[in-house]
Amino acid sequence: MNPDLISKATAARDAAIAPYSNFKVGAALETTDGEIFTGCNIENSSYGLTVCAERIALWKALSEGARRFRAIAVVTDSAVLASPCGACRQLLWEYCGDITVHTHSLQGISNEYKLAALLPIPFDNHNLNP
Ligand code: THU
Repeated sequence: MNPDLISKATAARDAAIAPYSNFKVGAALETTDGEIFTGCNIENSSYGLTVCAERIALWKALSEGARRFRAIAVVTDSAVLASPCGACRQLLWEYCGDITVHTHSLQGISNEYKLAALLPIPFDNHNLNP
């Protein structure tokens, strides 16, 4: 793993806007070239329009032209590690493929998974264009 990935996700977490849940999340998405795009969760008063840290990082990367990815780190301050929600799993699969997902807590616990293990039997463009 790129040694900067966890520290960049940790730093990105500081910018989270999470006054409703008080659950701040940072993410760092690494391209196959080693470039890193970060994100944090951004909540709003209608709750449902909240965007997760992973998706902010993904939209930033895609909108800057990045297309090939190898890993994402997700950092929280929690006794239980947080892995990407279902919506983020779907979008990460679609745009990043079977990347490595590193989960890390400020309390010092970490884990890693392949995205395919987090989203088995996905729906994607292969279904639309068999
Ligand atoms: N959240 C993320 O940003 N990423 C995750 O992987 C899990 C959840 C955010 C959404 C919301 O702002 C807060 O965490 C509580 O669900």
